[in-house]
Amino acid sequence: MSSGSKIARSARYKGALYDATRMRRRPGHPYNLVVMSNRAPIRIVRDLAGERIEPTVGGVGGTFEHLLEEHGGTWIAWPGGRTMQKRVAMPPHSPKFDLVFVDLNEREVSQFYYGMCNQGLWPLMHYMTPICHFNRAQWNTYQRVNMNFASIAATEASANSIVWVQDFHLAITPMMIRARRPELPIGLFWHVPFPPEEIFRVFPWRRELLAGMLGSDLIGFHTRSYLNHFESACERILGAKVDRDRHEVLFGGRTVKVGAFPLGISYQYYEGLATNPRVRDRAMRLRRSLGDNKIVLGVDRLDYTKGLVQRILGFERFLERNPGAHRNVTLVLIAVPSRTKIRDYSDLKRQVDEQVGRIIGRFSSDGWVPIRYLYTQFETEDLVPYYVASDVALLTPLRDGMNLVAKEYVACHPGNEGMLVLSEFAGAAEEMTEALLVNPYDVDQIATRIEEALEMPAEERGARMTALRENLRANDLEQWSSNFLSTLSGSRALEQSAAAEAGAD
Ligand code: UDP
Ligand code: G6P
Repeated sequence: MSSGSKIARSARYKGALYDATRMRRRPGHPYNLVVMSNRAPIRIVRDLAGERIEPTVGGVGGTFEHLLEEHGGTWIAWPGGRTMQKRVAMPPHSPKFDLVFVDLNEREVSQFYYGMCNQGLWPLMHYMTPICHFNRAQWNTYQRVNMNFASIAATEASANSIVWVQDFHLAITPMMIRARRPELPIGLFWHVPFPPEEIFRVFPWRRELLAGMLGSDLIGFHTRSYLNHFESACERILGAKVDRDRHEVLFGGRTVKVGAFPLGISYQYYEGLATNPRVRDRAMRLRRSLGDNKIVLGVDRLDYTKGLVQRILGFERFLERNPGAHRNVTLVLIAVPSRTKIRDYSDLKRQVDEQVGRIIGRFSSDGWVPIRYLYTQFETEDLVPYYVASDVALLTPLRDGMNLVAKEYVACHPGNEGMLVLSEFAGAAEEMTEALLVNPYDVDQIATRIEEALEMPAEERGARMTALRENLRANDLEQWSSNFLSTLSGSRALEQSAAAEAGAD
């Protein structure tokens, strides 16, 4: 199935994009939220048939789509292609927020997005220094693109706006926005890991990057470990004073608050979908189409950080050790095309194709195929039936900021019929301790965890899944954003009263 044909049928984004003429306010909120990210929830694609839109995949896009649909605001992002439209109302069929497009020319896409962001900062943040490529021209373009985003934010923001910058693509915009609009509260959330200081140190513009981030009033990370790494980097690389009890960094005469804010999901939305009779019916048909076998599921963008090859080898070891599982267990691998123009990604695609083909050739028999491999992108409504139908989710990233799929999977099993096997190197593992944690570098251990998950007594499974769900419900997306935003407003209010006091002295 091609991703194109799937998306073209998307009901959610069918129809035209409408120009938005005014800024939508957050009803009942004292401020207007301005969100910035490189990736938008939609991508503009131009082909012979003209211009059309497709949804994008990734943690940031999905997260802020939920939040802004709920609360309104303005979202500044790159549309993933070129368009004449500058500002559109989203979602097109019932507008809740404005999406303001930042145009990147071909050179900027190549040097900023594919270059500095995805061949420099992405592997660096995931502790993978041997595949990092750094180059001065790309850094210059990174600075220019960040400046462009910052200028648009400075123009868009009204007197009562809060600016919330997302992720490593826009690391230095906080400092640039502050230079133009010093009165605005600025938050930055880091959606990827932050590596230990010894690793981060290899980045040639390490001081500039840290200083740029510290233009914020509040910087959030998914876990305490990433937060600790960042604090050490500020201390040792910038010589900044860090208060590790109050989680404050003193730099350039300002105090910047830092904190761990583990991202949650919209729990009710996923639980609601998973209990919807139409979705359950689709899940049942899916199981039937796989011969009512036990299903082990993997879902990720096709990215070298996600441990896809390790997962496939772990499943092979499981099949070697368990002949009784042949014809009874199927691995369903959903791999979403991602950053396909980058060599490391096309090499990985080839490797995954080869491994899957080899295992299918080695084990298939009597109409049973051990791995169903779907190289495509699903919309949430089409993905959830896979979550519901699966007995086990097997998520083995070598390193991952959070891993929202793990949380979505658990939320989709209110009846406790599933089990989660999760890499100990995913940010989510810090909270999801009742999952079966696994070291993805240990192929035998992956096989063992699959066995344990499939054979787990119902009582134990129920206890683990219930505990996981309770935590997800208590720390959902709404809670996450209100924690972050109230800490941000609080840090701003404190700073202003400190400044007023200093003025009175
Ligand atoms: N996702 C999707 N369609 C797919 C596969 C994944 O919409 O076919 C979504 C998934 O529901 C999740 C996001 O993509 O919300 C992936 O987020 P995650 O944090 O797991 O990984 P990331 O891609 O951000 O590294
Ligand atoms: C990760 C990053 C996001 C990014 C997403 C998809 O989740 O943290 O910022 O949007 O991957 O990657 P892409 O390169 O397609 O935006």
